[in-house]
Order: sequence, then structure tokens, then C-alpha cells
Amino acid sequence: MNTPEFEVLLSEAEIKKRVAELGAEISNHYSQDKSRHIVVIGVLKGSFIFLADLVRRLTIECEIEFIEVASYGAGTKSSGQIKLLRDIAVPLEDEDVLVVEDIVDTGHTLYYLLEHLQRSHRPRSVAICALLDKPSRRLRDIKAQFVGFTIEDRFVVGYGLDYNNRFREKKDIVVYKES
Ligand code: IMP
Repeated sequence: MNTPEFEVLLSEAEIKKRVAELGAEISNHYSQDKSRHIVVIGVLKGSFIFLADLVRRLTIECEIEFIEVASYGAGTKSSGQIKLLRDIAVPLEDEDVLVVEDIVDTGHTLYYLLEHLQRSHRPRSVAICALLDKPSRRLRDIKAQFVGFTIEDRFVVGYGLDYNNRFREKKDIVVYKES
């Protein structure tokens, strides 16, 4: 097995600071909209740490739900074929939904999810909050309203992001390489 090598791209402290700013931006946006509360939908599994930190920085009330998808393909390559593994079980009609995702890469996952949410759940509004955005890899017309960091085309792990289900527990976001 190859030895993994890691290079810190975003430190725990940088992430913490930006997540606090995002929490304020999101709270400000929805309180101007006079939303009473929002439904935050975490996309499993990659968003679980980010979501846990983000919701504690919101000053508006929120309900937390999870949806789970799998994209076929292993390692660092996404195939573009998405499968819904776990759906939302509560009604979302008349709700303002905020989808929380770890990273937008090609955009296939969020394209699929937005289409599914609109078609099957008909919320009042849907917005996306992505911790990371890799716009150079985009194949679908997807734009997150709230973005933590825009990064170059590097494969990263940590803070919930994985490589074949490993390294999610790392506190920093690190570039993953095999030597
Ligand atoms: P997309 O469908 O290509 O936009 O990819 C979205 C999903 O691919 C994310 O939710 C991640 O699970 C995974 N992904 C994309 N880039 C990375 C990365 O750099 N590290 C870890 N996972 C990634």
C-alpha cells in the first residue's frame, strides 16, 4: 500500500474563523428575509463536522435533517452517477432549506440533490452552503450561495472529507497525496 502524504491547506484555526463568518452571513441573510427558521440539510457523510460547527454559529433557529447520497466511483474520481441512500422524512413544503455540503467539485451531486428536493419535497426556497468550492472542475451549472473557501484542483481530506472513507477525523483540511 502506498504511503499517504499530507500538506495542510487550511488549518483548524482558519476553518474555525471562516465557519463563524459563514454562520453570521447565513443568519443575516435569513433574518433579512424574515424567515422564522430554516431547515438545514446536511449531505452525508462529508458534511457532518462542518454542519455541527456551522449550526452552533447561527443566530436563527434551525431544524437539522440529513440526506445521504453515494456517487459511484472510488478514490479521487467521481463518476457523475448519483444514488439516493437516505431521503428526508419530514415535510419541507413552505420551508426555507439550506443544503450543507462539504465540497462542490463537478457539481453532479448538488445538481442531483437540488432537482430531487424541488421535485419530491417542494420547499419554499433552497440555498446551498459549501465549505469548499473547486470551480475549475465544474461540469454542472451549480453555484453555492455561501462558500467557505474557493480552492484549486487538489484532492483534500480532513474535517469530514474522506479518501475511501478514511481521514475524516483530521482537524485540518489537508491535501492528500500518495507517494
Ligand atoms: P461533485 O458531485 O463532483 O460536485 O462532488 C461532490 C462530492 O465528491 C463531495 O461531496 C465529496 O464527497 C467528493 N469530493 C470531491 N472533491 C473532493 C476532495 O477533494 N476530497 C474529498 N472528497 C471530494
